[in-house]
Amino acid sequence: MLGVRVHTVLLSIGFVKDRIIGPTCESCIMHVLIIGGTRFIGRHTVEEFLANDYEVTLFNRGNHPNPFAQEPEVKHVTGDRTNQKQVDRLGDREDPDIIVDFVAYRPADVLNVLNNFPDVHKYIYLSAGDVYADTHIPLREGDANLELCTKEAAQDTSMATHSARKAEGDRVVFEAAKRGINATSIRPFKVYGPHDYEPEFVYWINRVSNYDRVVVPGDGGSVLHSVYVEDVARAVRLVTEEGQPGEAYNVAGRHAMTLEEIINRIADSLNKSVQVIHLSEHDLALGELRPGDFPLYVSRPTVAATAKLASLGWESTPPQRAIDRTVDDVRTNGRSTTDIGPDRDAVENIISAMGG
Ligand SMILES: NC(=O)c1ccc[n+]([C@@H]2O[C@H](COP(=O)([O-])OP(=O)(O)OC[C@H]3O[C@@H](n4cnc5c(N)ncnc54)[C@H](OP(=O)(O)O)[C@@H]3O)[C@@H](O)[C@H]2O)c1
Repeated sequence: MLGVRVHTVLLSIGFVKDRIIGPTCESCIMHVLIIGGTRFIGRHTVEEFLANDYEVTLFNRGNHPNPFAQEPEVKHVTGDRTNQKQVDRLGDREDPDIIVDFVAYRPADVLNVLNNFPDVHKYIYLSAGDVYADTHIPLREGDANLELCTKEAAQDTSMATHSARKAEGDRVVFEAAKRGINATSIRPFKVYGPHDYEPEFVYWINRVSNYDRVVVPGDGGSVLHSVYVEDVARAVRLVTEEGQPGEAYNVAGRHAMTLEEIINRIADSLNKSVQVIHLSEHDLALGELRPGDFPLYVSRPTVAATAKLASLGWESTPPQRAIDRTVDDVRTNGRSTTDIGPDRDAVENIISAMGG
């Protein structure tokens, strides 16, 4: 049964290796090299590949604990992907069928892997939804313009050039595909779910959990398109199996939630009712706050087109189920978010000043 499934996969992504295609294919197991893989999206993606009978090798520095240390199907190679010699050595030692790259933050990172693995059958680059320079609704792959990246920016490491560098990584993928390499880009929008180490969703979960009144900027209708992490992991596998070379695929929930909807869904998960208080830019200025101080707030809606990925058979988890799992994880792990978002006292002072 496994052999039949793998054979179908191989044909659909156009693998041509003799050792894979042919009568011996019944016993083939696909080998994925994951650059990264131990923290959040990568970690869920490893689970997704394991659940679908792939063999996995992780390449990372070993600075973070390896949750797969006890899994016999998961091999670990220690190394830094920004270290040329270590990536060269990886290329000499490993012969994966597929590479999924979670830690490429400079276009040179992408190129370096492609140069070191000239025979790889599929390369997946984890790009990001913020590569788009346009504000169209929705942002459609191949239609909306991407951020431009100067030579100087390509070498930079600051957040100011992050989107430009990610966009340039996409261009490296597209150029590689023109040279016949089966390289594809995946663009997740804001990702949330268990093991998220970024603080934005955790901030709102803690706010709803700890207070009966929750302030949102404006009318609460801010939309930063988000996606549940297990859906990203499934997208990575699906694009590995079905995605086309030289293409990019947005990954965002089929339903784009407003900030207020996220807050209300968190409250439903916690089985509690909260009063959502809308404060205008003018109201917030009374406490020297701005709408942009609130996590997940965006001044313009950021909405991805999701049809291209859906055409491969991808669907997203129903939003309430995804938020329930995220809330459960935060409550189980007891994470706090004191380092982002407006100070609660400042918010309370504004509400009091307004007679609340
Ligand atoms: N979170 C979001 O909302 C979002 C949205 C869009 C796109 N993305 C993209 O998702 C990717 C990151 O996802 P993730 O952090 O969840 O992935 P992850 O693969 O679960 O975690 C990051 C991994 O990279 C390893 N790593 C970090 N620096 C390294 C280096 N120099 N050399 C080798 N390994 C290194 C880390 O381990 P060690 O520290 O032990 O090396 C860890 O295993 C990025 O490409 C990001 O742009 C994220």
